[in-house]
Amino acid sequence: MNPSVIRELLKLTERPGIISFAGGLPSPDTFPIEAMREACDRVLTEDGRSALQYAASEGYGPLREWVAASLPWAVDPAQVLITTGSQQGLDLVAKVLIDSGSRVLVETPTYLGALQAFAPMEPQIEGVASDAGGVDVDALLQQLGAGDDQPESMERRRLLTLDLDPASSPVAAPRFLYVLPNFQNPTGRSMGLARRQALVAAAARVGLPLVEDNPYGDLWFDEPPPAPLTALNPEGCIYLGSFSKILAPGLRLGFMVAPASIYPKLLQAKQAADLHSPSFNQRVVAEVLKDGFLDRHVPTIRALYKRQCLAMLAALDNEMAGLDVQWNEPDGGMFLWVRLPEGMNATELLPKAVEHGVAFVPGSAFYADHADPRTLRLSFVTATVEQMGVGIAALARAIREQHGA
Ligand SMILES: Cc1ncc(COP(=O)(O)O)c(C=O)c1O
Repeated sequence: MNPSVIRELLKLTERPGIISFAGGLPSPDTFPIEAMREACDRVLTEDGRSALQYAASEGYGPLREWVAASLPWAVDPAQVLITTGSQQGLDLVAKVLIDSGSRVLVETPTYLGALQAFAPMEPQIEGVASDAGGVDVDALLQQLGAGDDQPESMERRRLLTLDLDPASSPVAAPRFLYVLPNFQNPTGRSMGLARRQALVAAAARVGLPLVEDNPYGDLWFDEPPPAPLTALNPEGCIYLGSFSKILAPGLRLGFMVAPASIYPKLLQAKQAADLHSPSFNQRVVAEVLKDGFLDRHVPTIRALYKRQCLAMLAALDNEMAGLDVQWNEPDGGMFLWVRLPEGMNATELLPKAVEHGVAFVPGSAFYADHADPRTLRLSFVTATVEQMGVGIAALARAIREQHGA
């Protein structure tokens, strides 16, 4: 485990007066405080003794049932494991699936917290070439030695289900591909249906397990994304979900859905990690979720984030004129991805940006290998619409100064 240079740099961004596009914090304006207060009261009144007691590692039954019923493929509640945030799901996946030296595949770029969760198990993490539509499936197959021109390598083919017996796996076969199909952190990009189908088919063909992380899938602006990868092949995927972005991250509640072949191992790792996720929080969330609460609540988050995203895009259009800066236009989530002019370096730009009163996360933090130093991540949900123009103008000034330097 190495201290992250980026984390050290980001301490700069916590100075008072800085407009921060750096943090991945959901807007606190979206937290359902009243609903939580009422649910806490009901849980303590009706079920206080159990709510404050130790409980089963799998999680609270009614919450597992809610999760199973909320997903768009047939899920048995017995396959659902409640976790302490989806971050713990990543940690459990690492403990169960990675041995020292195992190959693990990730998108380029990918979620920094996943790289951090995998690293202690000492994998060899490899980035898979990706474009604006997510993982490049042909490049993935080439990387696995399973491209169309190498049919003999199909000996690698394993069962189409997750197979944990290392003896049955070719030594060099990656343990899994970690993938974020919806409004990815850090880029904000999403995978279309055709790409999802191609990825799932390719992964099944070569026996590559997929670890699908979906904390942002509900935060779409105009239309919901296509079905999760796991819905296309539940036996070949581990699915991670979270209550952090649709209720509140301080609850530290997420979940995994895993095939029966691997669930007991994940449960064992969960037990060893923290026995169970907080019983009280699980009951409160189950209480809040009753009666279709999210159908009323989540649209308010979508509307707010869409407004903020549009404000940031408008500010970028205004302020970056004449600069060779590129950015994408996400259809949901919390982030967008910026590429600076040729020759610039986002890590070097950060101190200059902070001098001008604005912060971001340099993109290099999010690459397993071959980082693109020109990239950076902007969050459009933490700063207010009013701060957006000021912050992006400050960023443009910092870029002009650094670029001219
Ligand atoms: C892609 C991704 N996965 C997982 C997490 C962890 O979320 P939590 O542990 O709050 O559920 C985050 C948090 O930002 C994230 O962006």
